[in-house]
Amino acid sequence: MRELSLNVLDIAQNSIAAGATLITIRVTEESAADRLSITVEDNGRGMSPEQLQKVRDPFYTTRTTRKVGMGIPLFRMAAEMTGGSLDIRSELGQGTTVMAVFTLSHIDRMPLGDIQGTVTALIRLNPQLDFRYIQTVDGASFELDTRKLREILGDVPLNQPDVMEWIGGYLRENLEPLRSQA
Ligand SMILES: Nc1ncnc2c1ncn2[C@@H]1O[C@H](COP(=O)(O)OP(=O)(O)OP(=O)(O)O)[C@@H](O)[C@H]1O
Ligand SMILES: [Mg+2]
Repeated sequence: MRELSLNVLDIAQNSIAAGATLITIRVTEESAADRLSITVEDNGRGMSPEQLQKVRDPFYTTRTTRKVGMGIPLFRMAAEMTGGSLDIRSELGQGTTVMAVFTLSHIDRMPLGDIQGTVTALIRLNPQLDFRYIQTVDGASFELDTRKLREILGDVPLNQPDVMEWIGGYLRENLEPLRSQA
């Protein structure tokens, strides 16, 4: 994987598979601390302490079609390559948070890539779910919350083409001024 945004897409797919109805993606860049953190938080079914322990082992998966689950191990590897780390917190019936920390300036840190594309794809493919995307660059933040969009849209589905086009433009216009280096 060449872009961290693709890892984010993968981690968010786990949340969807876990029955989440609200998924929060946070990207936080702190140049003074030379740190990039990415978290994906969901309100899905969560994991028991035993499951959680096994997920830390890369050869564990609940998939039946294939033996090895790669989403979390790949994201962990991308973080550890930069001297960072990955942490998972999960509670059965409550939800799961996956947190990855990267050294921002590390030569092996993959670029964030097309995170707007990831966020819009998640919304387009899962119009019944809610997503929050919060990007912070050195203290300046932007947030998209589909629950707020729904208040304005009423019965109009989020994945209707003109709504999707508007969301794409809204993300572009608001993320650009943050001047992300990620
Ligand atoms: N957000 C989550 N909520 C509940 N369980 C999760 C969550 N994320 C991961 N898991 C559990 O951890 C396992 C490993 O996840 P991982 O993404 O590494 O592999 P996978 O999803 O099984 O396979 P792949 O990502 O390669 O398609 C999952 O099969 C699932 O049981
Ligand atoms: Mg997965």
